[in-house]
Amino acid sequence: MEDSVEVMLLHKSRKLSQHTQEKSLFTAASGALLMGVYGLWTLFALPGFWKIPACLKVPYLPSSRTQTQNVMKLLHGRAGCLADLGSGDGRLVFAATVEGFQCTGFEINSILTGYARVKAKWKGIPFSTASFVNQDFWKTNLSKYNNMTVFLAPGVMEVLGRKLEKELPDEARVIACRFPFPDWTPTATEGDGLDQAWAYDMNTIRKLSTHTIMR
Ligand SMILES: C[S@@+](CC[C@H](N)C(=O)[O-])C[C@H]1O[C@@H](n2cnc3c(N)ncnc32)[C@H](O)[C@@H]1O
Repeated sequence: MEDSVEVMLLHKSRKLSQHTQEKSLFTAASGALLMGVYGLWTLFALPGFWKIPACLKVPYLPSSRTQTQNVMKLLHGRAGCLADLGSGDGRLVFAATVEGFQCTGFEINSILTGYARVKAKWKGIPFSTASFVNQDFWKTNLSKYNNMTVFLAPGVMEVLGRKLEKELPDEARVIACRFPFPDWTPTATEGDGLDQAWAYDMNTIRKLSTHTIMR
């Protein structure tokens, strides 16, 4: 009888240790999987980032369909050159080419730039209508663009506003997605929540800032 109790206890403790081993194996496997996914994500989303100061880093996050539609509504009736600052996979640029703009997508991530170029070729869009440049927009003079789209991050909007105020022509319109410019008054807005977009006209922005300085 004592023997059979011992056997039962031994069996139970073996089962318990097997269960613990399986659990730690599962934890290790899910940890490795998560690390792999994160590694792939950084490989895909972050190349070129080392070139940018930490306070100006913006990761890749694609615009939603509604967000893209809101941007296009705010560009309705306009024409000419358009720049998308941080063009990702090119979706805002492609939507803008349909509306007749000559577009340039500035993108620091070479993988995304390459992907957008291949997609443009596949869609049959000529280089004169949509070009993707693997370039840091902070180091680019943007004065030739009279339309601009930006989907970046809250922390960079104030600095970007100062750069655009210096460089853009008076007739330029800037569309900000999800994160508005903190110091600028929008002319119009479309959508709400995460899909909201704001339109800013440079002549209005400049008039308002001169007015504030004079007061
Ligand atoms: C939030 S995503 C927006 C992507 C795309 N415009 C869209 O709406 O789907 C921001 C993009 O900006 C790019 N980016 C960040 N800093 C940049 C810089 N200094 N110059 C060029 N691209 C930059 C990132 O690599 C990322 O693809």
